[in-house]
Amino acid sequence: MKRVFLETYGCQMNVADSELMAGVLERAGMELVDTPADADAVILNTCAIREHAELRVIGRLGEFAHLKLSKPDLIVGVAGCMAQHLRSKLLPKKKRVLDLVVGPDGYRDLPNLLRQAANVPTAEIRLDRDETYGDLEPKRAPGVRAWVTVQRGCDKFCTYCVVPYTRGRERSLPMADLIRQVEHASEQGFCEIVFLGQTVNSYHDGDHDFADLLRATNEVPGIVRIRYTSPHPSDLSERLIAAMAECEKVMPHMHLPLQSGSDAVLSAMNRTYSIAEYDALLSRLRAAIPHIAVTTDMIVGFPGESDADFEASMAYMRQARFDSAFLFKYSARPDTRAYKTAETVSEEEKGRRLTVMIDQQHQISGEHNDAWVGREAEVLIEGISHGDESQLHGKTREFKTVVVANDGTPAGSLKRVRVTGATTMTLFAEALDAPRREALVTIGG
Ligand code: SAH
Ligand code: SF4
Ligand code: F3S
Repeated sequence: MKRVFLETYGCQMNVADSELMAGVLERAGMELVDTPADADAVILNTCAIREHAELRVIGRLGEFAHLKLSKPDLIVGVAGCMAQHLRSKLLPKKKRVLDLVVGPDGYRDLPNLLRQAANVPTAEIRLDRDETYGDLEPKRAPGVRAWVTVQRGCDKFCTYCVVPYTRGRERSLPMADLIRQVEHASEQGFCEIVFLGQTVNSYHDGDHDFADLLRATNEVPGIVRIRYTSPHPSDLSERLIAAMAECEKVMPHMHLPLQSGSDAVLSAMNRTYSIAEYDALLSRLRAAIPHIAVTTDMIVGFPGESDADFEASMAYMRQARFDSAFLFKYSARPDTRAYKTAETVSEEEKGRRLTVMIDQQHQISGEHNDAWVGREAEVLIEGISHGDESQLHGKTREFKTVVVANDGTPAGSLKRVRVTGATTMTLFAEALDAPRREALVTIGG
């Protein structure tokens, strides 16, 4: 057992977990390879947030069943949230293809689990209240951005959401471990830190809260930008808003999931805030941090969502004018409280609501981006545009994607630009400074 192919689905926490697994595997003398054909073992790091996410993985397992016909010794493993969600049901159901099922708290022992799975189908699906992997160094993918998980699990139990069941109870890593990780990422050449947690702002290690963590990170040399995702509105403290406003490296962008614009639906979702409370937070943020970009998540078709509830979501989105939004059709997830409630909105109607909401948000996102035309921005260059060598791409402080002519500026450089054009997704810009020969930092990884 030497060569492992690792494929990641789901959110950034899974991306960070795959980097953690990569570190564990390499320290055990294993090598990561780029294709399943070259591998002794494949691991799918999976997501269970919506049914569609699981169906994709089931489809992929079908492909590996096929590959096993020509590679009978190939070990196939499913890790992550879907592994935890389906637990031991998954092994017998997929016994022709699957050798290993490992949940999010089982990665420390991954090399041994893989060896064991070569002999006997293996499942490690215990959730561990104390596991944070705080002592384990991830193998970070090269780039400008380092993902740093500050907290695992979730205690919020929104009634639609499977995460508290797949990732277990909320626990924070000690701030000293996190600052050490940030310093190490900086030494490796990463210049942007993105802190990750399901409710990242409820971070607390017993002595320090999330505002303390931002302030301490702001002092780390070599780090030029700090971001985080996703905060929960109910834990958005004045201390955090003040830290964001005062720390120059913390970027003026917040992804603040709303989920619905109807108080009745928010309450049925157990989101623990009202629209009035969310709106007051938004006003405080916009007053404290001028030009902050705010993005959100919304769900349409939650059980009981009436036409009027949906219209309330649409109306609030027009009022709040989010810079952009991830919009989802409700997907009933086994284990959750809402799963036990009968669905009241047909798939067809969910689809209709989603389309209408996407159209409205496109319009608003487009207007936000149009307003940037003529303005100056600071862009952190991430590299050459995919499929077009003549262009560079990067992000503004507000997390908007910018494309600018390739003048040889290396990834990891900050560049002043003037925005010359916009679509709903992208800003186009011209450089205002001379091309740099060197990045502020070397590229990590
Ligand atoms: N912890 C984050 C969200 C993590 S999941 C938070 O609370 O903000 C990312 C998004 O997926 C959620 O914000 C929600 O909009 C969506 N989502 C979660 N469960 C879902 C479900 N059962 N059906 C549809 N969308 C869902
Ligand atoms: Fe899921 Fe709610 Fe926790 Fe977010 S806060 S992960 S939506 S239970
Ligand atoms: Fe999916 Fe698990 Fe993330 S369910 S969204 S991979 S926490």
